[in-house]
Amino acid sequence: MNVCTVEVGLGARAYRVEIGPGLLAEAGARLADLLPRRRTVVITDAHVAELHLAPLERALQAAGVTAASHVLPPGEQTKSWDGLREVCETLLEHRLDRGDLVIALGGGVIGDLVGFAAAIFKRGIDFVQIPTTLLAQVDSSVGGKTAIDVTQGKNLIGAFHQPRRVLCDLGVLATLPARELRAGFAEVLKYGLLGDEAFFAWLEAHGAAVLALDEAPLAHAVERSVAMKAEIVAQDELEAGRRALLNLGHTFAHALETETGHGEALLHGEAVGLGCALAFRFSAALGLCSDADATRASALIQAAGLPTQLCEVAGHPFAVERLIAHMAQDKKAEGGRLTFILAHGIGQAFVARGVEPEALRRFLSREGAI
Ligand SMILES: NC(=O)c1ccc[n+]([C@@H]2O[C@H](COP(=O)([O-])OP(=O)(O)OC[C@H]3O[C@@H](n4cnc5c(N)ncnc54)[C@H](O)[C@@H]3O)[C@@H](O)[C@H]2O)c1
Ligand SMILES: [Zn+2]
Repeated sequence: MNVCTVEVGLGARAYRVEIGPGLLAEAGARLADLLPRRRTVVITDAHVAELHLAPLERALQAAGVTAASHVLPPGEQTKSWDGLREVCETLLEHRLDRGDLVIALGGGVIGDLVGFAAAIFKRGIDFVQIPTTLLAQVDSSVGGKTAIDVTQGKNLIGAFHQPRRVLCDLGVLATLPARELRAGFAEVLKYGLLGDEAFFAWLEAHGAAVLALDEAPLAHAVERSVAMKAEIVAQDELEAGRRALLNLGHTFAHALETETGHGEALLHGEAVGLGCALAFRFSAALGLCSDADATRASALIQAAGLPTQLCEVAGHPFAVERLIAHMAQDKKAEGGRLTFILAHGIGQAFVARGVEPEALRRFLSREGAI
């Protein structure tokens, strides 16, 4: 099986995303050019450490790289002030300098946290992402958004800091719990829904094979997703415009995650699946796309084992006004005006500013919110 490479074309900060099976075992050789001092620190979480840290350490050693490692507790709570401090203190302890590089081995939590620490440590050091969840491989490891959560909200403190390289080892997904895999698949189908109908149709045919981790379909799904993200990020790194399309489903998702406490009740990817179904039905309700397209979007989301209706989520029935209040606080909302990513059809998403609260209220009531 070949390794494929996607370039993120950001000029002086350009980097490549390598995708294929077995990359962890080759990480030393694949990163050697970025490690002239032959030393690094690997930050990971306890679940990932148990399964995948030793092979990475061996691979680095084999390339003559001395690697220290630091293991954090798994879970969203680690993406916090305390977690940030722990990572920064670890880097200080190991005397990393501006010329050194830190490796984030894990899902989006570790990637976002370590990326942010790298952004601010000694005013910025290099980092590499080795994403180990499907969500992190197709979304969070690419594009340079890094952040922590604070009591006032998720991802509110952060920075844009691009990695120097991303290694997506498809083999590590074999140990991912099925529920996490399905949640990551929501971000994959999001790319089809937002900008590539042909990819969406391909997922309708091959989604089950992707979820079964069949090598060729899985590689194609990750590569196509990363390529779309790379293309959008290269055009609009700081989200002045088109990058917002990547937030399809996310205004609904974030409101529901806030209501359900950002935890096990509703995983981020599950919220995104449901959010995409809602965004398409809302688009249909506003006369922007056909009911048939909304039904088609939901069918794939449902087939992937993701929720498509509010009543499937613990906490139902949700309060309309509470959901709208969360949406008005979304980072995309400007001056309280509601902004959504809506669609004219499968693969045709656009940024809709100033959505009428009344239309949203009617829609949410029809969806079973009270
Ligand atoms: N920066 C971005 O652009 C961006 C985009 C999307 C999401 N995010 C962030 O990503 C985070 C969610 O990421 P996530 O879904 O990867 O969650 P996560 O990092 O919490 O990982 C999910 C769970 O899977 C475990 N795990 C990871 N890899 C494993 C493997 N190979 N085998 C077994 N278990 C494994 C983890 O320990 C954890 O328990 C959120 O904080 C979200 O805000 C960031
Ligand atoms: Zn997301």
